Amino acid sequence: MTRPSRRTLLTGTASLFGAAILPRAVFAETGLPVLRASTSTAQLAPDGYPATPVWSYATGDAGTVPGPEIRVTAGERVQYRLVNDLPQPTAVHWHGIRIENAMDGAAPLTQAPVPPSEGFDYDFVTPDPGTYWYHSHNRSTEQVARGLAGPLIVEDREPWLGELGAATREVTLVLDDWLLDADATIVEDRWDDLHAAAHGGRMGNTVTVNGKAYPNLEIRPGERVRLRLINTATARIMPLVLQGLAPHLISLDGHPVQPRAIETVLLGPAQRADVVIDAPMDPDAQIALLLDPGNGELVEIASFAVAGDAFTTVHADVRALPAWGTLPAPDLTDPQRETLLMEGGAMRGMLETEYQGKVMDFRELSSNGMVWAFNGVANGMDAPMFRTSLGRTVHMEMTNRSMFPHAIHLHGHHFEVLARSGASNTSGDIRDTVMIGADETLEIAFVADNPGVWMLHCHMLSHQASGMMGWFEVA
Ligand code: C2O
Ligand code: CU
Repeated sequence: MTRPSRRTLLTGTASLFGAAILPRAVFAETGLPVLRASTSTAQLAPDGYPATPVWSYATGDAGTVPGPEIRVTAGERVQYRLVNDLPQPTAVHWHGIRIENAMDGAAPLTQAPVPPSEGFDYDFVTPDPGTYWYHSHNRSTEQVARGLAGPLIVEDREPWLGELGAATREVTLVLDDWLLDADATIVEDRWDDLHAAAHGGRMGNTVTVNGKAYPNLEIRPGERVRLRLINTATARIMPLVLQGLAPHLISLDGHPVQPRAIETVLLGPAQRADVVIDAPMDPDAQIALLLDPGNGELVEIASFAVAGDAFTTVHADVRALPAWGTLPAPDLTDPQRETLLMEGGAMRGMLETEYQGKVMDFRELSSNGMVWAFNGVANGMDAPMFRTSLGRTVHMEMTNRSMFPHAIHLHGHHFEVLARSGASNTSGDIRDTVMIGADETLEIAFVADNPGVWMLHCHMLSHQASGMMGWFEVA
């Protein structure tokens, strides 16, 4: 028998007393369990630094960063009464869920933001299994950057864990990026920094994994684990390397892919990837989660310790996740054709652009806090970009005529990436957020099968706030 590691002991102790000290569930008058948004603190920076004041979600007593993991099985309901204990209005968006429109949380389009000390009842079905997340959708450049984000895991209806070729355990890893001062407080005076917005967005200087800098994760020798990776950063693109762990990609944005060996997992803001890793048998093997911060160098953001009893079974080929079976396939014989032209930002700017019904030059636009446009309109919230009828296939050609990459997210739908453009966008993949590089063109298609008004925006949240935002209507 191997000696139990420190972590095993700690977990053992926690579960021993767990029953007695479970946080009391908090119920509002409506009977729904409460999801409370409030201020709290979190030890984000490495040990030795002070704790950071954050804004966080709580389902029990104390708010945590990331927010508590919400876990349901596909087809089940998620029910929470959001209680706003923040000094600002807020709303919760359930990113990637093909949700009923009124529950989308896309303030101000689908609901008014909830004022301080008021609430809102969210109650919706999660049709598709996969890795999702929830986050603030009001003043999100600030509110998400302060910590208002958490994982939402929708489990498969059929068992996968423990089956032949599957993993025996799964771990959710929420990756985030914080802009901290030397005293570990969040830099607060640059929410609307137009210079950052015109570049890659408000970039942080501290990357955390499940709210901690440089955590140590334990894995048993020979163990096969499913990692659910979520990038909740407001701006940082995360090229990730799972060194020495033979990663296989099994899902993108919640939707299964045919398992494929992968060297770099490229996660744009809001994107998710599920990856199966195989731990080495050798406890001294070099294994780590590495991130390219943008200069091509790899830095370690989490370490793995190989410890505990070894798995000696030889692994079969990585098992695919069960197919959704819920998403209609686009009919490309005569789709409704739409285009999305992205313009703006530093070094290119744009010619004349409409903002609030008025045509402006780049100078006037930026004096209004706008530096980006979709189809010649900055922050086009007055009218839909397009309308389509329920059940119609929409084919969209996206062109990025700026010098910066973008992460384009459609609410209420998942789409098929038709044309490959850059390493991150393999054709045939189904996503809810897609990366598009400078001067790239990308084609996507989806069946508009979810009635309502749906936002479409860049998930680099400073880009969204400075023009890259619009909506479409399905009726
Ligand atoms: Cu995850 Cu409109 O956003
Ligand atoms: Cu963008």
